[in-house]
Amino acid sequence: MAGSAGGGARAAQLLACAACAAFGRASAALPRAPVAPGADGDGAFPLPYLFAYPDQYPQSGRFPANFTWGAGTAAYQVEGGWDADGKGASIWDTFTGTDGAPINPGMVDRGQTGAIACDSYHRAKDDVALLVRLGLSAYRFSISWPRLLPNGTLVMSGGAPNMPGVDYYNALIDELLRNRITPYVTLYHWDLPQALLHDPYAQRPSRDNWRGWLDDRLPGAFAQYAELCFSLFGDRVKHWITLNEPFTFAVLGHSGPHAPSLCNWEETLGGCSGGPRPAAGWDVYVAGHHALLAHALVAKVYREKYRAAQGGELGVALSSYWYEPASHMREDVAAAERALAFELGWFAQPLTHGSYPRQMRDKLGARLPAFSAEEAALLAGSTDFFALNLYSALLVRDKPPAPGYGAPGGAPVSQRADCDCETSASAAWPRSNATWLRSVPWALRKMLRHVHARYAPAAVYVTENGWADSAASFREGAHDEGRISFLANYTAELWRAANEDGVPVRGYFVWSLLDNFEWEHGFSLRYGVTFVDFHSARRTRYAKTSACWLRALATGNALVPPSAFAEGLSSRRAARRAPLDVVLAGRHALPAWMRAWEAEGDELDLCDPGFFLRTPFSMDFLDSFDFLFALLVVACVCACVYVNLSLLADLKQLLVSAARAQTRRAVSVQADDADADSLRLAARGREP
Ligand SMILES: *[C@@H]1O[C@H](CO)[C@@H](O)[C@H](O)[C@H]1NC(C)=O
Ligand SMILES: *[C@@H]1O[C@H](CO)[C@@H](O)[C@H](O)[C@H]1NC(C)=O
Ligand SMILES: *[C@@H]1O[C@H](CO)[C@@H](O)[C@H](O)[C@H]1NC(C)=O
Ligand SMILES: *[C@@H]1O[C@H](CO)[C@@H](O)[C@H](O)[C@H]1NC(C)=O
Repeated sequence: MAGSAGGGARAAQLLACAACAAFGRASAALPRAPVAPGADGDGAFPLPYLFAYPDQYPQSGRFPANFTWGAGTAAYQVEGGWDADGKGASIWDTFTGTDGAPINPGMVDRGQTGAIACDSYHRAKDDVALLVRLGLSAYRFSISWPRLLPNGTLVMSGGAPNMPGVDYYNALIDELLRNRITPYVTLYHWDLPQALLHDPYAQRPSRDNWRGWLDDRLPGAFAQYAELCFSLFGDRVKHWITLNEPFTFAVLGHSGPHAPSLCNWEETLGGCSGGPRPAAGWDVYVAGHHALLAHALVAKVYREKYRAAQGGELGVALSSYWYEPASHMREDVAAAERALAFELGWFAQPLTHGSYPRQMRDKLGARLPAFSAEEAALLAGSTDFFALNLYSALLVRDKPPAPGYGAPGGAPVSQRADCDCETSASAAWPRSNATWLRSVPWALRKMLRHVHARYAPAAVYVTENGWADSAASFREGAHDEGRISFLANYTAELWRAANEDGVPVRGYFVWSLLDNFEWEHGFSLRYGVTFVDFHSARRTRYAKTSACWLRALATGNALVPPSAFAEGLSSRRAARRAPLDVVLAGRHALPAWMRAWEAEGDELDLCDPGFFLRTPFSMDFLDSFDFLFALLVVACVCACVYVNLSLLADLKQLLVSAARAQTRRAVSVQADDADADSLRLAARGREP
């Protein structure tokens, strides 16, 4: 394995002849990817609408029948229960200092850990209830490797899986299926068992000096763990994602702020970017290589032993920015193509064609490990669907390498610099509270078209897409307009990719179901459609307005315009949600009720059942509490007036007829009197 070649002189030598050797070997021995015309960076970059960005996005449109709508989480970010019921420590437990180890300097929000997180280990039923309320048909969660195998392998864990861990996932899967929610299960979402990593920084020795993803025994260990999962859960789980974002855990985990980031701990040659063999330019490619081999082994095991009986499918969730050329210049277009090759292609091309992209082989030479013919054959076509985690885009310019790049005394090599690219974000792209995440909705459509044209997968799932904010309280985070705007624009581009571009997109998973432990940023960044109160003992969950928007999207299987959810948690809206006695007590009672209700930890469903499923018109109409009230008052007054008027009319009638009767009686009395008088007169006449 080329990546383990140590020593400065040797490395420099290897580097010097790398390009020619790698290119000759690779082009002769490895299958060439059938790429779109001009896709090798000769200027005809296959973009759907180069440099023309839409400023409006469709607001209506139906998705294909059976489209999968889901939400995602990851074990370390939500489960908590870090040492509950026999679970072993993961490298993230150690990295954050949970188990008493020194906190790794990579942690930005020091002191925050996933020890409890959202406490989903104890609240899995509640999470499923949330999914049901959101009307979602799928849940993407990950299994914690050290919860099943506390020491990483069966032998080191006493020969059997940790039964409480097995029970936990069985219960979660069964609860999902009972509610007709399809589980999409990630096997590795970064929480490697600490037992598989000798960590001198955290003073955590490992039996047999395991080196984590740098260890060539890791693919085998992973395949054993994966097989355990297939045998335990594969009767019910039909969609497996073996690895989440190998790019991220290879690069950030070996030269950035993610666990374990031990940067040359073995050689202590100057940290992540220093010395003749900086981790950022060497270890990252070794880790990525082992991740690919791990997936290949798992795919082999699944296909040979489980697929016939279980009938499931397998994929790898790949992350990448969309890289947009910053100009029409041929060099910039080629640079954008290179940037994609170094992030997406690094993993996508081996998984589809069994080879690394030409641009990587050309540039890296001996720093890029090679696949044996057998490994290449195992890798090619080893996924059944393409799983894409896409959030944002970057503009790319060509940037020639620094003088003496990689040579002794010259600029040190790093994965970041290997691309010979200069990247930037446009000031026009709306910012989230995560510095790396700006809203570029068309990036999703361009990426889906690229994936379709370049890799031609049978099915594509967007397994992550979402927005970060940093609300300090539920009052601040409840009405997450930014998230709704982001999701509405991105799903509009998803719709165009499915409907206009013929990309076989089968599903979309919002990141995330819950606010959760955001790695080195702890709890300071919130990605959830559900607000989690991390100060409350129960990690109380509250639906944000985006949850209501998501429910409308999923249950309608059609685009939902953000304007339908433009109104926030105003007093009027709160009034509708408050119990009637609070409403009747008047507006001034509301703030007190809100406070009391938050303090009590009642979990609020911001969407009244059925309410958000109405059309925007009837929504606006119904939303207007005052309007309804006014309508009621006017109706009452009208009714009263009407009733009064008809009563008056009746009264008048009564009076008139009474008066008439009176008159008639008077006349007849008069007549009677007259008769009486004449009788009397007659009598008198006879008398005298
Ligand atoms: C969504 O698109 C609209 C234009 O249709 C734009 O005004 C808005 O800023 C976009 N929002 C985000 C977060 O991209
Ligand atoms: C949707 O799924 C059902 C059940 O799996 C299947 O019978 C039906 O053919 C599917 N429809 C489409 C349009 O794929
Ligand atoms: C894990 O390894 C440690 C140290 O070797 C050992 O004490 C412990 O019993 C092991 N755990 C299990 C579940 O076998
Ligand atoms: C989060 O982003 C919003 C919108 O850009 C901004 O107003 C706010 O100050 C940011 N908050 C933090 C803590 O960075």
